[in-house]
Amino acid sequence: MSFSRITGTGGYLPEGLLTNADLEKMIDTTDEWIFDRTGIRVRHIAAPGETTSDLALHASRQALDAAGLRAADLDMILVATTTPDQIFPSTACLLQAKLGVGGCPAFDLQAVCSGFVFALATADQFIRGGQCRHVLVVGAETLSRITDYTDRGNCILWGDGAGAVILSRSDEPGVISTHLHADGAHRALLEVPGGVSRNDVADTKIRMEGRAVFRVAVNTLDQIVDETLAHNGISKSELDWLVPHQANIRIIQATAKKLAMSMDHVVVTMDTHGNTSAASIPLALDVAVRDGRIKPGELILTEAFGGGFTWGAALIRM
Ligand code: UT7
Repeated sequence: MSFSRITGTGGYLPEGLLTNADLEKMIDTTDEWIFDRTGIRVRHIAAPGETTSDLALHASRQALDAAGLRAADLDMILVATTTPDQIFPSTACLLQAKLGVGGCPAFDLQAVCSGFVFALATADQFIRGGQCRHVLVVGAETLSRITDYTDRGNCILWGDGAGAVILSRSDEPGVISTHLHADGAHRALLEVPGGVSRNDVADTKIRMEGRAVFRVAVNTLDQIVDETLAHNGISKSELDWLVPHQANIRIIQATAKKLAMSMDHVVVTMDTHGNTSAASIPLALDVAVRDGRIKPGELILTEAFGGGFTWGAALIRM
């Protein structure tokens, strides 16, 4: 029986910064309101011309180095993103070219803020099925490109960044279980309306009914946490770390409370980069692995909720 295990992590945040003080000059808001309501202090913004695949490349190289692998060792490249460089080729194919390799399958996966969990689950299946030994799984976004900086109700949230993991075949799990869900009935609460098939490429900014999304997110994450623990027959107290999607500190606190976990065991990085959608879980994971908080053998729960709606969780032994 083969399983998948995370053998390397990487992360990258572009140099440009957008602080709460900067936002105070752009919209009717305050640093205090933003930090109290979201937990965010600063976001990173990609430079003009810097694309999602550029950010993904930095994170991928770090993850490959951490795993002791070369790009040529990869059997598959998966990029979760809502902000691809272009309509096609996929950002994964563009990343593959930048990594200087060819031949292995490379494709994008779109599940908005849950994208990384969906991509991790997909990679896990290919490894368990015996088709791949090493898969590069990336979450990368340039959300600043689809942010309406006149809408104070949501522009305070979003930032750019990329995170990556290498998932490798292993005799022991690794990825213990993944749980994915979607409900397409709530488009109006969270969407970017524009698209080529609708023949509308002008309306490409995020629209969100923040309060309603917040409520659904908290309830849904409660359920996915229960589902994951029950499926594996484990109790909350067995978890070492919660590595949540970094959407809003109050959503994260609600999930931690549900798990009876002290915030000391929750990885929170959103203060330094905001909500980076598909990039946020691998970015947080990378930070906590590199600073030594998350150690080999520890049990972590990741969870995410986002546009679609989509939601998912993964239970992982590091
Ligand atoms: O990533 C996955 C999906 N997304 C999420 O999970 C995000 C979920 N939603 C949220 O994080 C929160 O709803 C927000 C941070 C977006 C908004 O926080 P909120 O506490 O839900 O605020 P609200 O929209 O209910 O607005 C409360 C008040 C309103 O004023 P009134 O009507 O009470 O007078 C807003 O006009 O705060 C006002 N407000 C602001 N004030 C200062 C809204 N945005 C701002 C702002 N600065 N930037």
